[in-house]
Amino acid sequence: TIAELEQLEQLACEVARAAGELIVGERPERLGVAATKSTATDVVTVMDRRSEELLRTRLEEARPADGVLGEEGSATSSRSGITWVVDPIDGTVNYLYELPGYAVSVAACTGDVHTPGQWEAIAGAVLNPSTGELFHARTGGGAFLEYAGRTTRLHVTKQADLAFSLIGTGFGYDPGKRRRQAAIVLDLIPQIRDIRRAGSAAVDLCSVAAGRLDGYYESGLNPWDLAAGWVIVTEASGVVRGVAGGPPSSDLVVAGCPEQVAALSPLVDR
Ligand code: IPD
Repeated sequence: TIAELEQLEQLACEVARAAGELIVGERPERLGVAATKSTATDVVTVMDRRSEELLRTRLEEARPADGVLGEEGSATSSRSGITWVVDPIDGTVNYLYELPGYAVSVAACTGDVHTPGQWEAIAGAVLNPSTGELFHARTGGGAFLEYAGRTTRLHVTKQADLAFSLIGTGFGYDPGKRRRQAAIVLDLIPQIRDIRRAGSAAVDLCSVAAGRLDGYYESGLNPWDLAAGWVIVTEASGVVRGVAGGPPSSDLVVAGCPEQVAALSPLVDR
């Protein structure tokens, strides 16, 4: 129901704000790398873990029957049909270097979040603590940006011509895949206005929703990088697609207005 969707959206905003305060307010003076995950570049800090702990605890308190899937290992199963897919710090490398542009991403999802095409995000929030911007959406309710006490409705650009398109991307942490992604950039650059690699997929997707990027693509994303941004782009009249126009997956995510995605996909779908 609309009331339940509203409640999910509001809860996503609330916990994202709380986690944002934690990662900024309690950032240790000297923040080290607590561990590396898939590769040496794939880092996790102590604050990723603390932020996820806060998110999981708050969500479990508020909605005990829901599941929680998080980047840092949370994986509780759902009895309600709703699973929260959370990234406690998306853009951990930016956070580590105190480079603005990381985010807390929180999404309420339905379906099997482990199987591409079998799940979707129905409400979500992305908080960017560096700017204080909170992006949020729920299915059928529109996408919004809250900033400095003002709420603005979000719309993707209608840019269909790649030559005039500013495109965001990211590079996963797997060395082999990075090489392939770099090759795509080489081909793309002469055909587009310019490229941005900001360092947080969640922020990139919100930038598409806000019309700050015309398009975005990346391979190697996990559900937590993607979930909240997906509903936010969709509610900003954009689309988020994957391989051959199918559902977004770790193989490929392409976002923008439908015409932008149609133009960009063939160039990055390989
Ligand atoms: C990463 C960021 C980055 C993207 C990577 C993600 P993390 O998330 O979103 O922009 O290029 O693919 O893994 O690991 O910092 O949460």
